[in-house]
Amino acid sequence: MPISTAKEKFVHELADLYDAEHQFLEGQRQMQRRASDERLRTMIMEHIAQTEDQIKNLEQVFGVVGEQPKRESCSGAKGLVEEAAKMMAEAARPEICDAMLGGAAAKVEHYEMVSYADLITGAELMGQTKAIKLLKANRDQEVKTARRMERAGPRLLKRALGQSGGQSKKPKRS
Ligand SMILES: [Fe+2]
Repeated sequence: MPISTAKEKFVHELADLYDAEHQFLEGQRQMQRRASDERLRTMIMEHIAQTEDQIKNLEQVFGVVGEQPKRESCSGAKGLVEEAAKMMAEAARPEICDAMLGGAAAKVEHYEMVSYADLITGAELMGQTKAIKLLKANRDQEVKTARRMERAGPRLLKRALGQSGGQSKKPKRS
């Protein structure tokens, strides 16, 4: 269906992000199963719980604009989740896998941050105060998670490279 009004654009993007959050929820569950670093696993676990709440918030946003929740297949999210799955499959060691997962998770959060920013602008233009509040709550969680993942990146990379101050094992000589 052609999109011709600000509301139609908003609802389309909302449905897109609603689908993306579902895809990321499943993607994070896979990441959490593969993560070996305790802190990384905890971060992912905490964000899984937040994502479940974010999905409920999006359902409320559909409600306040007078729509039923619906998923519009999000190709951007699909690509990010596939990319992460590929990296998990290709990592030769758990430490490498963790470093790659941290990067993949940060990319997902940035995708979400920009998507929420667009929706917030749309809700502001439509004067949808309740929707703005719900969308900002989700956006703020994504921003915090992105920062946490970014901060974890160098530590995970050093660990993967065996530079974590004696914690890592020397590679075995064959
Ligand atoms: Fe997120």
